[in-house]
Amino acid sequence: MAATLESKFDPKDMEFRHLGPSGLKISVFSLGGWLTYGGTHKGSIVKECMQAAWENGINFFDTAETYAKGQSEIEMGQALKELAWPRDEYVLSTKIFFGTGRKEPNTKGLSKKHVVEGLKSSLARLQQPYVDIVLAHRPDSATPMKEIVEGFTQCIRNLNLAYYWGTSEWSATQVMEAIQIAERYNLIAPIAEQAQYNAFHRQRFEVEYAPLYKQFQYGTTIWSPLASGLLTGKYNNGIPEDSRYATNKAVFEDSIKALQSDEGKAKIEKVKKLTAVAEKLGASVSQLALAWCAKNENVSTVILGATKVEQIHDNCKALKLLPKLTPEFMEEIEEILQNKPQPAPTYGRER
Ligand SMILES: NC(=O)c1ccc[n+]([C@@H]2O[C@H](COP(=O)([O-])OP(=O)(O)OC[C@H]3O[C@@H](n4cnc5c(N)ncnc54)[C@H](OP(=O)(O)O)[C@@H]3O)[C@@H](O)[C@H]2O)c1
Repeated sequence: MAATLESKFDPKDMEFRHLGPSGLKISVFSLGGWLTYGGTHKGSIVKECMQAAWENGINFFDTAETYAKGQSEIEMGQALKELAWPRDEYVLSTKIFFGTGRKEPNTKGLSKKHVVEGLKSSLARLQQPYVDIVLAHRPDSATPMKEIVEGFTQCIRNLNLAYYWGTSEWSATQVMEAIQIAERYNLIAPIAEQAQYNAFHRQRFEVEYAPLYKQFQYGTTIWSPLASGLLTGKYNNGIPEDSRYATNKAVFEDSIKALQSDEGKAKIEKVKKLTAVAEKLGASVSQLALAWCAKNENVSTVILGATKVEQIHDNCKALKLLPKLTPEFMEEIEEILQNKPQPAPTYGRER
């Protein structure tokens, strides 16, 4: 890493949170490349979006080996190279599990071989010597947990390919098993989970993971905070031509069908009611939905997705909304959502 004396990063009013039990601090809003960078969007727009994020005080960027079959890492890596920010001023994560679509059986999963070789390939595409965080993109029931933990430990301890590792869409039981194995065998434990979390998708994040926050200070980098755009109100009256549902029809086949179902229509009604609450606060419903996620203290960062620079500038205004989300407003939102998960029973033994 080239030594630098001059800071290029201006945190603006951004809030930074520790990622789980680690000393690493990441911006409460971050930017990811799923479907967008390397997928529907290539070239200068990727750099412009990342620059817009940076200008808003975002220091954390997320991608994965599988996004656009490796093309997301190539595009985001190229953008990082051209932007030439000091490496110690941003935090980068990638995820290993799904591979890049090759057929050979060892080019996916969480075997020690694929964790190490997959990460090395990701780094080559990113043009980076290391990522700050490498995540297991899904659990791998076909690989012993000890081997998985050893693979990530090797990346960090022996090969200097990453500083930390985490999980994505693992069950709480699987995360606990990994942490316990790490403790037992002097290996490195994961520090954070990348989980879906938004106003329409709450159960696992709020209930199943609760013991992970309490016992291990487990961190979270949450995805699809706008439910892929549903919470922006853009699907209230059909599917706009340049929206994700239109540009990624195959991926969203079920979501598109669901718009016509009673459940889908009920969600649109909720978005309309949330829009009225947002207006009272002088904000958009997207900003309200994002601030609602960030309001949860167990969220380390809300990963934004964006196809346009303006979406990033707009979405980052959610930061200003955070202090305005008083308990009264949170209650009003709860009344609209009607989906608060019930915590696990304690039989009067709370502490
Ligand atoms: N670990 C995992 O399994 C996993 C899975 C999914 C995602 N992720 C990560 O999480 C990141 C974010 O997820 P996501 O992209 O699904 O987030 P999202 O916020 O739910 O959806 C983002 C999309 O919504 C639309 N949008 C955003 N802001 C808008 C605005 N202000 N007005 C109108 N439309 C707006 C854009 O799509 P259009 O303009 O095309 O409509 C944008 O690409 C990903 O990039 C990835 O890094 C992880």
